[in-house]
Amino acid sequence: MNKLFAVGILLTIGIVLAVKAYAAGDATKGKASYAVCMACHGADGMGNKALNAPRIAGQESWYLERQLKNFKAGIRGADPKDKYGMQMRPMALTLANDQAVADIAAYVSSLPEQKPVAKTVKGDIAAGKTAYMICQACHGPTGGGNQALNSPRLTGQQDWYVVRQLKNFKAGTRGTKSGDIYGMQMRPMAMTLANDEAINNVAAFIATLK
Ligand code: HEC
Ligand code: HEC
Repeated sequence: MNKLFAVGILLTIGIVLAVKAYAAGDATKGKASYAVCMACHGADGMGNKALNAPRIAGQESWYLERQLKNFKAGIRGADPKDKYGMQMRPMALTLANDQAVADIAAYVSSLPEQKPVAKTVKGDIAAGKTAYMICQACHGPTGGGNQALNSPRLTGQQDWYVVRQLKNFKAGTRGTKSGDIYGMQMRPMAMTLANDEAINNVAAFIATLK
């Protein structure tokens, strides 16, 4: 009886470890599949405005995984009005399975932030700071993100990309598809920004966060 019990425990541990091994990303394998991403996001993952590709270097792996899965599933990047998301979706589809997604997320999140990105959005930073009061509850006072609240890091992100996403959320090209639990939490927050000016203000403020 005791022996059976011991075997049972060992089997359980084995299964738990196997599941963990599957879930954890392998950055070395991810590096190999990153070759396809480089063309737009850059070898350093710092993004490329001319190609509309945001910085992904240093973003947290859980958020990267979620977005890549959302692109694959058509929760993001499938709306014809989402021009840039539609460019990204076929790239996510090159990742064969969840393990490949986890591997590339591990690699991308390991890339260091090379340099501060250029500020391109003009806005009233003081007004943006006031608007950001509501955002910090989830994204944190310095924009570092909060995994417990499923909120990504915003600090160091390109301001033009922040503007585009806030507009996407407002327009419903992001955060409305069924299954987009987290996008749906963000959408009403984007709605608090009354107009394009308010969006520019908050993006200009976020660009000052370190
Ligand atoms: C053809 C250019 C192109 C290639 C190649 C490409 N991407 Fe993208 N990617 C984009 C664009 C454009 C966006 C912005 C989409 C939007 O505005 O919603 C994006 C967005 C993303 C995002 C969302 C970032 C965020 O903050 O939510 C992730 C993650 C991402 N790409 C990862 C990858 C990975 C990993 C690869 C390689 C498998 C890859 N991309 C290849 C163009 C590209
Ligand atoms: C209730 C929590 C919450 C609040 C408050 C909130 N957000 Fe978010 N935000 C989220 C979540 C969750 C996501 C991730 C959505 C997803 O997974 O697609 C997100 C995503 C984003 C993104 C997309 C980042 C990317 O890399 O694509 C931006 C930009 C953003 N938020 C800005 C803001 C701004 C600006 C405010 C204040 C006006 C704000 N958020 C308030 C929860 C919140």
